[in-house]
Formats: sequence, structure tokens, C-alpha cells
Amino acid sequence: SLIVPSVQELSKEPIVNIPTRYVRPDQDSPMLVDSEKFPSVPVIDLQELLSKETGNNELAKNGAFSRNDYCYRELHCIIIHHGVSATLLEKFRNEVTDFFKLPIEEKRTLWQQPDNHEGFGQLFVVSEEQKLDWSDMFYITTLPINLRMIDLFEKLPIELRETMEAYSAEMKRVAKTFLNQLAKALNMDDEEMRELFSEGVQSMRMNYYPPCPEPDLAIGFNPHSDADALTILFQLNETDGLQIRKDGKWVPVKPLQNSFVVNVGDIMEIVSNGEYKSIEHRATVNSSKDRLSVATFYSSNLNSELGPARSLLGPNNPAVFRRMPIDQYFKDFFARKLNGKSYLDFMKFGNK
Ligand code: SIN
Ligand code: FE2
Repeated sequence: SLIVPSVQELSKEPIVNIPTRYVRPDQDSPMLVDSEKFPSVPVIDLQELLSKETGNNELAKNGAFSRNDYCYRELHCIIIHHGVSATLLEKFRNEVTDFFKLPIEEKRTLWQQPDNHEGFGQLFVVSEEQKLDWSDMFYITTLPINLRMIDLFEKLPIELRETMEAYSAEMKRVAKTFLNQLAKALNMDDEEMRELFSEGVQSMRMNYYPPCPEPDLAIGFNPHSDADALTILFQLNETDGLQIRKDGKWVPVKPLQNSFVVNVGDIMEIVSNGEYKSIEHRATVNSSKDRLSVATFYSSNLNSELGPARSLLGPNNPAVFRRMPIDQYFKDFFARKLNGKSYLDFMKFGNK
């Protein structure tokens, strides 16, 4: 990643026009489609789900995973009663908000370095000409602990560090619960499931979208699907901005207090051999309110090989995606521009 300036600092200047590097003629306007016309995003009650003895089939009955449901193939839902305490969420919300308020001098010590993409900055910037997002982000690998950049982690405010630790453990629990249900719905072999996801690599991306004087020209986070298996997104404040692409249209996803948005990522599309589809999404900006979110990414185990689950393949289900060591997959992913589902297409047989 190339080093980029802070958009938060830029937004404090009395500018009327945004710099050309943030002008995105390539993007659909953030003008919202009429959300009333779309089915609302399914809400899943995790507690209810797990309290049932027949938990495995319950999701299917609830709709989220049933094959003829609106969201089955592009699983995208909101979860409530996820068991993450409101106190923890409140602490995390406050600490992340304060984190972005740190003076720029302090943030500079946490900024991305040319040879590393962790820290404050932007990801997937591969050329000086490339258009930039109207946002700052902070990216860090959280689990397993031996993958953490200790020097970066230890520079974080102590309260944030401790809360992140607790939050990260909760996100791992929720992600694994969900992935297990997905695997069961697919009829995936339990052992293969464990080999892939028992101690998955987890990272976090904290996003800050400042108000933008020309919101119709800019984009907060350009369209993409997540490269991981499952993303749990926490929208920290009440500002709209997240949109998912559904049948070619951008559909807004309203923040719902203390809930999480769950998205299937590319790894799950690959593992399921295309049965689940990763969801394309983006973040738009507005002229008056800032917006904060934290995405927690859960991926396969370190040293695992990525590819369609062998227990799902057969004469009637030949592999659609190629196989690749997981570290290679991520290395290639971070070396590219982020662009819709292009990386996943690249993983398909026959594509270069
Ligand atoms: C993301 O795609 O990681 C973040 C989207 C958002 O800010 O809602
Ligand atoms: Fe994302």
C-alpha cells in the first residue's frame, strides 16, 4: 500500500471542492435507491437459534439459510441477541471514537509503513494516480496472537487494547457459531470444517468517514466483497452509509443499535464452491455527519489450504475455484486494487 494523507485532517479545512484524487466519476452516485421497494434485511436472533436443540435446522427454517430464501445465496443479515454485552459494545464504541479523535501527531506513530499495510491509512492503494476513498481506516491483525504486530498493538491506548482483546474474542465466538451453521447447511464434513476454521486468522478494520463537502462526487469505501470467510460489522453510530448491491441496485442498510451486520466473504464462496455468494457492498458519505464502523474479518486457519471443501465435491459438483495456500491468497489480495468481486473471479478456474 502507498502512504496516503489523512482524510479526517483534510475535512477539517474549509474546503468547498474536494481534491481530484477523491473525485470518482467511475462510481454510481450515492443517491439512494428507494429502500421501501426492497425486502428488508433479515434479522437473525442468535440466542433463539442456539437455545433450540434442533439448532442446526433452525436457521434453515428461519429463512437465512433456506435455499429459496431471498438471502440464501448472498447471505447477508443482521444479528441480534448475539451475546456480546451492551457494556462491552458501549466501551468499544467510545474507545474507537476517541481513537480517531487523537491528535494527528500521535496518529502518525501508528501510520502505515511502506512495507506494511497495518496501521492508519488506506488499503489497496497501488499507484499515485489511483482514486482514494473519503475515509481513514486503522487495520490490525488480532488473532492468532502470534500474527499480531506487537509493536503496533502496544502503541495503542491501553483501554482500547484491553477492550479490543475482549471484543476480538467475542467476534471469534460469533463468527465460528455462524460458520458452523453455514457448514451444516451445506452438509460439510465436521473434521474438514475444523481444519479450516477452528483457529482462523482474524483482523479488524476500523473506519472513519468524515463529512464530505461534495458527497455525490466521492465514495467512502469503494465497492468490494470481503476476502475473508465471514465479516461481522459493527456500525458505531446512527449515520447511514452502508449499501449492498442487490440485483444490480445499491440498497441501504440502516444501522440498528447494538446489532451486527453479517456478510459472507469470498473464502466462504470458495469453500462452498459457489453455493454461498459473497456480498458486494460499499460505503457512501454525506455532507453533515461523520460515520464510524468496525469490520471484524474471520478467515481460515493459518497454514490451511484454500479451495472448495473436498467433502462437497463430486461428479455432480466439480471444483469451480482453484486451490491456494491461504497466506498466498492474502498476499495477492493485498497487492491488488480492490474492485468489486474481481479477486474472486481471478480465483475461478480458467481466469487469469
Ligand atoms: C467495510 O466494508 O469494511 C466497511 C463498510 C462500512 O463502513 O459499513
Ligand atoms: Fe467490506
